[in-house]
Amino acid sequence: MTIVFASNNLHKVEEVKNKLRMPILSLKDIKCFEEIPETGNTFEENAFIKANHVYTKYKKDCFADDSGLVIEALDGEPGVYSARYAGEYGNGEANMDKVLLKMKNKSNRKAKFVTVICLILKGETHYFRGEINGIITGQKMGSKGFGYDPIFLPDGSKKTFAEMSLDDKSHISHRALALRQMQLFLKGK
Ligand code: IMP
Repeated sequence: MTIVFASNNLHKVEEVKNKLRMPILSLKDIKCFEEIPETGNTFEENAFIKANHVYTKYKKDCFADDSGLVIEALDGEPGVYSARYAGEYGNGEANMDKVLLKMKNKSNRKAKFVTVICLILKGETHYFRGEINGIITGQKMGSKGFGYDPIFLPDGSKKTFAEMSLDDKSHISHRALALRQMQLFLKGK
């Protein structure tokens, strides 16, 4: 069984290839170079849009993921807008600054990272969700990782995601949890 992972993020493709231990094709491998717009209002919708684009156009089994940070005191923001919260796509520093400012006087610091994977296999759609709970710190701590890692302290941990080794993070992360669920599902196929 060969499955396409609908992502242009080469780090993610490598991570997923390592974890799943089965043949995975990237968008580059199937020569899909077009931008797939993420116009959904939920992680599920966005993951489906990406997976369905590949399944419909390239006729290949496919999965896609969508992730983000959900902060309780900000009514779920930045949520599906995590990558472009401060305007410019992928500006992690500006995104974190915006969160820290909005959270300045909030006593409820609860947040979670969420990943939803949408898998379209033989025409059937399946969803897998991974979540990790934690709190938003008062300032940035650590320099590893990406995105909001320096301001996210997982419950039960003394280190933010950005202070952990990649190995430690990838054992407990939202992405790893969702991936593990899909892996279990695929084992039964
Ligand atoms: P994506 O859908 O996985 O590309 O994630 C969208 C955005 O959510 C990223 O650009 C980051 O801002 C944020 N994000 C998702 N996962 C993580 C993570 O593990 N650490 C920090 N930020 C993340």
